[in-house]
Amino acid sequence: MNVGIIGSGTMGSGIAQVAASAGCTVKLYDTNQGALFKAKASLEKILARLVEKGRIDSEEAERIQTNISYSDRLRDFEESDLVIEAIIEKLDVKKTVLSELESYVSESCIIASNTSSLSIASIAASLRKPERCIGIHFFNPAPLMQLVEVIPAIQTSKSVLEKAVQTITEWNKTVAIAKDTPGFIVNRVARPFYGESLRIYEEGIADFATIDHSLKTLGGFRMGPFELMDFIGNDVNYTVTETVFAAFYFDPRYKPAFTQKRFAEAGYLGRKSGKGYYDYSEEAVKPEP
Ligand code: NAI
Repeated sequence: MNVGIIGSGTMGSGIAQVAASAGCTVKLYDTNQGALFKAKASLEKILARLVEKGRIDSEEAERIQTNISYSDRLRDFEESDLVIEAIIEKLDVKKTVLSELESYVSESCIIASNTSSLSIASIAASLRKPERCIGIHFFNPAPLMQLVEVIPAIQTSKSVLEKAVQTITEWNKTVAIAKDTPGFIVNRVARPFYGESLRIYEEGIADFATIDHSLKTLGGFRMGPFELMDFIGNDVNYTVTETVFAAFYFDPRYKPAFTQKRFAEAGYLGRKSGKGYYDYSEEAVKPEP
């Protein structure tokens, strides 16, 4: 199967690894050459570590690597059977890119979005053939997280839904089919998790580390909310909260917090920028994994 991925950031590069590991021929596209370079270098490192740990052998690592090619030209997707978009969480940008993409791909190509919170119906509406559009939502990090939400829009055809479910299952992931509603399943449940934690901090009840520690030690969560927000990226996470809040007609349950807004504005994005709620610079004391 020929798979195209648009956006070679955190999610795009992870999804590329998943598809390539399942034997697909993958093309990874980004407008930013630096992002493509970074994705390639980081995949090499990840695969070397997997070989070192004995999870895969070196032939397998080589095969995964050669299954992926890198491109900065959208027209290179003309042979794709499935294209998954994983670019910035902005509806108008996604619409523009996908509608251009549609002019290059075949009539049977499925066009999917990895959006966390935007309406699949509105993304589908930017296409000449909206019935080919579907949400395929991976979690971070894509190679490790088992769940993938598959979200048919009201325009999506039955055959596209079936093909998407079949493909993701063949990629050794577990599918949950969700309705096209804000945040789908997991991101909707997660909003109050982050939101209440931010409000507890803003009300001066406890600091980031205490809240994380409490939820991990007492609550049994694998990561605390602040560690998780730093892991996801405060820019990405804040945008999702804003979108879900607006999409639920400003229901206060989903209200974003100024603390996260300011962190995103300041460029304190978390792990990817070296600083978020915690400091990730070389000399800093890191939160426990
Ligand atoms: P990211 O910021 O790590 O990567 C986005 C990439 O898209 C960048 O490399 C950027 O250069 C590229 N890009 C931006 N505009 C572009 C355009 N017009 N054409 C081509 N490339 C373009 O973002 P991340 O975290 O990978 O998120 C991508 C999507 O996945 C978003 O829709 C996000 O909501 C969703 N998502 C993110 C998760 C996370 O934990 N970070 C989890 C699940 C979904």
